Amino acid sequence: MNKMNRIAVLTSGGDSPGMNAALRAVARTCMFNDKECIGVMRGYEGLIDGDFIPLDHQAVGGIIHKGGTILRTARSERFRTPEGREEAIARMKDAGIDGLVVIGGDGSFHGAKALHDLGFPTIGIPGTIDNDITGTDETIGFDTAVNTALEAIMKLRDTASSHQRLFVVEVMGRNAGFLALEVAVATGAEYAVVPELPLSIGNLVKILKNSYSLHKTHTLIVLAEGVMSAAEMREQLADAGGYDARVTVLGYIQRGGHPTSFYVVLANMMGAFAADNLKIGNSGMIVGNINHKLVLSPLERAWSEHKSLSPEMLSLINKMN
Ligand code: F6P
Repeated sequence: MNKMNRIAVLTSGGDSPGMNAALRAVARTCMFNDKECIGVMRGYEGLIDGDFIPLDHQAVGGIIHKGGTILRTARSERFRTPEGREEAIARMKDAGIDGLVVIGGDGSFHGAKALHDLGFPTIGIPGTIDNDITGTDETIGFDTAVNTALEAIMKLRDTASSHQRLFVVEVMGRNAGFLALEVAVATGAEYAVVPELPLSIGNLVKILKNSYSLHKTHTLIVLAEGVMSAAEMREQLADAGGYDARVTVLGYIQRGGHPTSFYVVLANMMGAFAADNLKIGNSGMIVGNINHKLVLSPLERAWSEHKSLSPEMLSLINKMN
């Protein structure tokens, strides 16, 4: 008989909109399965400290559309050490916890894999605005971050076109260009600068010249933070073509806000799928949504296999300016 009676859930790494919906789904599925659910505060830090709270019906009520994470999150240096990991497992065993769901990005999944390798049943749910996790088409929070950026850039467009200005907007995404590319396409930007494509300032200057010759009211470049900072790009454009770009760094605003409806649904599906799979003995896996189907793949896929940008979407960079 499976002795998975008490399941814990934590959120780790950068928060992303939809984490609350996912942890709520884990908790509600546990209750449906007659299991207890425990929330771990502050990610792996709280795991080492034994900072646990019961996640009953009330605790997860009214949070489905809230941004951030009610469990808080952290990036834990202590958990990178073997002692920290042993301590975390001891704390969970003391509390009668039999399995763990980790909601986070690839750094969080390294931790989840370490627990699995130490014999502790663990399953991951991809929650990051970066969408840089192999094994799933979308990560929880990505679409919301794109929409947040879209809303901000639409406001920038008003002032940009009033002054006929060139704007460079820096978006997050860590080392990947998923966010920048999607934001560029969604906002109708003239160009997207992403880490996955070599940057030619010469080519960019040509595109800008063309944009000016077409008498566009303004020009917008979306820049992924993984390439360079917006301030650096501003300097390069001034040096290469004499352009005077205005820059905006969207920053942490992209991580906040309530999740879009599609992602609330996705978070619900992933949370329930994770809890159900842990219950039947699956471990060392991440939940993914591939071609609209929920699947499990080994945790290490998240960082060992490269996730590529859609070639069709990449080709739009040059077609749409
Ligand atoms: O991974 C999510 C993310 O927001 C990245 O896009 C960004 O580079 C990073 O986190 C920022 O991390 P921190 O919250 O530690 O400053």
